[in-house]
Amino acid sequence: MENFIKRVEELKREKGVVILAHYYCRPEVQRVADFLGDSLALSVKARDIEAKTILFAGVHFMGETAKVLSPEKRVLIPNPEATCSLAESCPAADFAKFKAQYPEAVVVAYVNTTVGVKALTDICCTSSNALQVVESIPQDKTIIFAPDKNLGSYIQKVTGRKNMILWDGACHVHEKFSKEGILELKKSHPEAKVVVHPECRGEVADLADYCGSTAGILSYCGKSDGDTFIVVTEPGILAEMEKRYPHKHFIPAPSIEGKACNECEYMKMITLESIIACLENESPIIELDEDTRKKASKSIEAMVKVG
Ligand code: 13P
Ligand code: SF4
Repeated sequence: MENFIKRVEELKREKGVVILAHYYCRPEVQRVADFLGDSLALSVKARDIEAKTILFAGVHFMGETAKVLSPEKRVLIPNPEATCSLAESCPAADFAKFKAQYPEAVVVAYVNTTVGVKALTDICCTSSNALQVVESIPQDKTIIFAPDKNLGSYIQKVTGRKNMILWDGACHVHEKFSKEGILELKKSHPEAKVVVHPECRGEVADLADYCGSTAGILSYCGKSDGDTFIVVTEPGILAEMEKRYPHKHFIPAPSIEGKACNECEYMKMITLESIIACLENESPIIELDEDTRKKASKSIEAMVKVG
């Protein structure tokens, strides 16, 4: 593995490429990243970074978002088959028909969507800023919230907002965390704080001491006086937790299938080998239709303005 890491570092220098990686990536992929973050931080970084070429170690919609915000940059993606079950649960053509039924509604879409859906959206959000985005919309407006019904319900519960129409989509990773498994773990670790990503089902989010994005969870674990945490999100985040807080203890939450943790197989498709091949070949790259990109860019920029 050390040889692969050395090779990535050589190629990055030689080709002037900056690597952005999501917290759910494999630990060795996180090691070669110049910037590690949640989807909001990575979108902003992709826009502001100086480099001409970015390699996005994350799923497809993340690379697309980088290209939407920085069309002049080349965005390399190590594995175009690394998609996202949540983004795939909302095809743009179906979403266009759905949206047409509510012509007065403001469309809020989570960044975990394809560029086609973002182009049909008024304002994007991530799990970090979904609350602020929804609160920035006047109370009397109906909101279409897509594609994650769990995040949508969570925001509805926190804001008390009635007029939200939810698209029926979900992330197969976060849907599979089990309430019973977490309660069982709590028996042997009663002092543990439960940290949950809002893509989890409501009955799981209800067990949370803290519910928020990956970046929010990381920051909560640092500030909290607790020293043991049951982590109810993709376990790739544990590498960063253990690096930042070596004296604290992190336990991945089990899935309804009884697995000790719940991995996103799409994020795990990004390997050091695929990064090396991508840097050597300078391909695959993200290419977008310019009209769709411009429309999508408006909804992402609207989000970045809110915060
Ligand atoms: P974040 O917005 O926390 O980065 O989450 C991205 C994601 O894919 C969650 O499943
Ligand atoms: Fe998509 Fe879920 Fe994987 Fe996140 S964890 S990238 S939402 S499939």
